[in-house]
Amino acid sequence: MIRVEQVTKCYRHGSVETEVLRGVSCEIPAGAFAFIVGPSGSGKSTLLHLLGALDAPTSGEIYLAGQPLSRMSAADRDRLRREEVGFIFQSFNLLKNLSALDNVLVPFLPTQRGRTHRPAAIELLNRVGLGTRLDHRPGQLSGGEQQRVAIARALLKNPKLILADEPTGELDTQNGSQIFELLHELQAERGTTIVTVTHDHRYIREQDRVLEILDGRLVSQNDVVSR
Ligand SMILES: Nc1ncnc2c1ncn2[C@@H]1O[C@H](COP(=O)(O)OP(=O)(O)O)[C@@H](O)[C@H]1O
Ligand SMILES: [Mg+2]
Repeated sequence: MIRVEQVTKCYRHGSVETEVLRGVSCEIPAGAFAFIVGPSGSGKSTLLHLLGALDAPTSGEIYLAGQPLSRMSAADRDRLRREEVGFIFQSFNLLKNLSALDNVLVPFLPTQRGRTHRPAAIELLNRVGLGTRLDHRPGQLSGGEQQRVAIARALLKNPKLILADEPTGELDTQNGSQIFELLHELQAERGTTIVTVTHDHRYIREQDRVLEILDGRLVSQNDVVSR
């Protein structure tokens, strides 16, 4: 599903160049649940953004489903990002004047397809336990509930890949556990590939793949337990 080959990422500020990723190579099989762990500033978010084609590596290549991202046209990359990848961030990025239901529909609202997707959006909100909160605005929802709205929004396009950057970062332990339970269920049910950055090792199960980054390098990588 995902293959990362000798990826580097440098940021330049004036004459100062910082190498944030220093030759990362790894593979994440389709349907895997993978964690990216490591200290703050080690390059985890940078790697996740590259996997979702939100940014391009300085050198090296990333293959999604066998396709080298750098050799795709910008239009194809946009389409891939829009249709095949679901992003979940630490801050939920919900629009505060829209209901939970409309927030889930946001990616489709500008088109007529917003209406088409309404039943599926309601089903997803039921699925994440918010069936009775369809008309609530983000301000009327708890942090855990807001994150579940964001997850439902990411799921509406039924992405093959979900990328989550510290999705429980702003939640308490109980809400955090619920989010990971939900992600684990989705992976099992839909075969979605999930890559998530976390600080909290309690959420990692034995069968999950773990990529540990330290100072821009992959320092360890467990084997995937076949199931
Ligand atoms: N746009 C940017 N410009 C310059 N430096 C950046 C940029 N984004 C991230 N960095 C630097 O790259 C390093 C890794 O950042 P990041 O990937 O966000 O780390 P993590 O998610 O592991 O905490 C940090 O030192 C950060 O300051
Ligand atoms: Mg980060």
